[in-house]
Amino acid sequence: MLKNFWYAVEFANAVTRAPKRVTCLGQDFVLYRKRDGTVVCLSDLCVHRGAALSEGTLVGDKIACPYHGWEYEPDGACSKIPANPEGRGIPKRARVDSYPIREEYGLIWAFLGDLPEDERPPIPHFPEHDDPSFACVYVEMVIEANYERTFENVVDAAHTPFVHGTRFGNPDKPQIPDYEIVQDDWSAIADISLSPPPARGLWKRLYKEKPEEVLTTNGWYLPNIVKLHVRLPFGDMVLYDHNIPLDRNRTLVKIVGYRNFFTGKWADRDARKRIRGILLQDKPVVESQRPELLPYDLPDELHLRSDALQVAYRRRRQQLMADGWWVGDDEQMPVNGKRGSATVIPS
Ligand code: FES
Repeated sequence: MLKNFWYAVEFANAVTRAPKRVTCLGQDFVLYRKRDGTVVCLSDLCVHRGAALSEGTLVGDKIACPYHGWEYEPDGACSKIPANPEGRGIPKRARVDSYPIREEYGLIWAFLGDLPEDERPPIPHFPEHDDPSFACVYVEMVIEANYERTFENVVDAAHTPFVHGTRFGNPDKPQIPDYEIVQDDWSAIADISLSPPPARGLWKRLYKEKPEEVLTTNGWYLPNIVKLHVRLPFGDMVLYDHNIPLDRNRTLVKIVGYRNFFTGKWADRDARKRIRGILLQDKPVVESQRPELLPYDLPDELHLRSDALQVAYRRRRQQLMADGWWVGDDEQMPVNGKRGSATVIPS
């Protein structure tokens, strides 16, 4: 797994003064806001007897374990053990891990690795977030598949006419033209012209004149984010799809979506329902893929030119493994082995 990256672990509006458990890379964390509004991220495992701190309560800016009341500071150090007689010290080992946090684009990002601040790979820039012409929507869903499978699915333009033919793919024109990839150490982006959906249903109402092609920008940002920007005749829709590894075979997909048309309708239940409808079409196909984990060697699956964005990811992943960025063995990541389950905000 790739630990030395920022992971978006929760929507910012879901993190309050009530402790909240989140899961990433097979580990549980507790998030809460201090009185000044900044967010704290600690390991969700009390070092005394392993109770979940997320079941505890806040005492000022500290969190108290629900079992024996040990209190932990925002930096993870235990500063109070109620069972100790007065004057007895706190053991040095009485502390839990604390993780750097950033709050950007309506998301809480945690850095789960050990790189110093100036060596950490960047959080991608979402330019639409500060553009007042765009409205924003947040959607999420758990998919029972490894995150690299769900991640690759969103950079796979060729699946659209088949999996999403009833929504926005064009089953009559499944060809993917060759495309150029612009790549750096942490991302790969491509402009791809696709055939728009047939003029029927919603699309019939939206098209004044059906275009021959729709320009999309598709690509990935390490470790787990996919961007899909669709330029429709009446405006732009941009989705940032975060594939959060809950454990080896489960992924929490969190989508931050923007559009600059029909903005009043974008953040409503209907928009969330539409995005969830697309994810529900992906879900059974991605969950059926075998092997569950992405093969390590490129020739282990067949690739076409239309798979170039996925191949670019697999090549970069091989480099990162060779350079020691890949930590541990995904085979050993827990399978439903963590405590509890991630909370999903009802949409
Ligand atoms: Fe947390 Fe005992 S288990 S204080």
